[in-house]
Amino acid sequence: MTGGVALAPGLIHHPGHLDAAAQAELGRELAGGLACAPFYTPRMPRTGRPFSVRMSNRGPLGWVSDADGYRYQLRHPETGAPWPEIPAVARAAWERLAADAPPPEACLVNLYAPGARMGLHQDRDEEDLDAPVLSLSLGAPALFRYGGTRRGDPTRSVRLEPGDALVIGGPSRLAFHGIDRILAEAADLLAEPAAPRPDFLPPGWRCNLTLRRVTRLGGTPAA
Ligand code: SIN
Ligand code: MN
Repeated sequence: MTGGVALAPGLIHHPGHLDAAAQAELGRELAGGLACAPFYTPRMPRTGRPFSVRMSNRGPLGWVSDADGYRYQLRHPETGAPWPEIPAVARAAWERLAADAPPPEACLVNLYAPGARMGLHQDRDEEDLDAPVLSLSLGAPALFRYGGTRRGDPTRSVRLEPGDALVIGGPSRLAFHGIDRILAEAADLLAEPAAPRPDFLPPGWRCNLTLRRVTRLGGTPAA
């Protein structure tokens, strides 16, 4: 494991952190949870406009968005079932890359069809902002945009490949970030993937996991 590449203070890119076997195992673990936590379409607070990204969660707390706002909750908004466990491959990556933080409680799973994107935002619904957010990418590459902690700050972009990990912590914990676009070029579609694709991830689609600590240690979990 390398020390990673600092894109900004606290924003550390680990290219290829998950090898093909780990990506395949993570895909299998995610697929196994889809029966009780299917992907669904979240909606923007107030307007109720649908996201282009589909979402699911793993772990005790799931991040959801609907007309009532953003929050963490214990159950799937459509099935009412508790979220499945955080995949072991993802927990192991947290132990390697966020070793000083308490264990993750939330793992948001974003599914991007070609053409899906995510606007610039901060991850700030957590009580514990000392722990980093850990992002893991599978499937098609994507153009990840990041800036400073103020919305108007200048931004840059980096290509996130399958298997890449990104630690969003320290002075960058509240950095604005988003996904400009999925890079499903023809060459990527034709090439034999390094890791076998799970059924939920067709060629040209991308999946991203973000693991987070939500509560402070010793605190009470959010409802
Ligand atoms: C997110 O900010 O929730 C996802 C970022 C990504 O898809 O890489
Ligand atoms: Mn985010």
